[in-house]
Amino acid sequence: MNVDLYERIWMWGVGIVLAGFFGTMAFATISSGMAPPSHIETIDPNPATVMTDPRVAPQGVSQDADGHVHVRMVGLTFAWLPNELTVPANTPVTFHLTSTDVVHGFEIVRTNGQTTVVPGYISQFTTTFDPGEYLIACNEYCGVGHQTMSAKLTVVPAASWTADRVAAPTPEVADAH
Ligand code: CUA
Repeated sequence: MNVDLYERIWMWGVGIVLAGFFGTMAFATISSGMAPPSHIETIDPNPATVMTDPRVAPQGVSQDADGHVHVRMVGLTFAWLPNELTVPANTPVTFHLTSTDVVHGFEIVRTNGQTTVVPGYISQFTTTFDPGEYLIACNEYCGVGHQTMSAKLTVVPAASWTADRVAAPTPEVADAH
């Protein structure tokens, strides 16, 4: 087949650029061990399992034996469980979240607390808050009731905060990073 010289130059050029793009992505994915959002920790997304798994149940705020504050939450169409939380200010709080149905977007509005919540995985992040009241929203369209999927986070001075529950430390799974 006769391909014009300039046509060949463009084809090779485009081919090299595409190889560069995909090569960069493949390299980054493999070299930094990329994985599903936030945390490599799997869970059976069956609601009966989720509601009894100690990593995300019972839902709410607890403090472990070391004094670390944990929030366990479940996202489902169309609610966050629980829908009200109170945590201490300027104190690291570790969130553990999963979903029993579809992908939800967990966002504590006007803070850096945000993660995708994927059925079958436990998302985890740790952050601190200034005192105040914050809206927790679902920021990923998940169905007809998506816009009603919200909760309230209240952050109070650490001195006036007490945990709902004192619990054993969370079973941790080694982070990929
Ligand atoms: Cu859950 Cu949108």
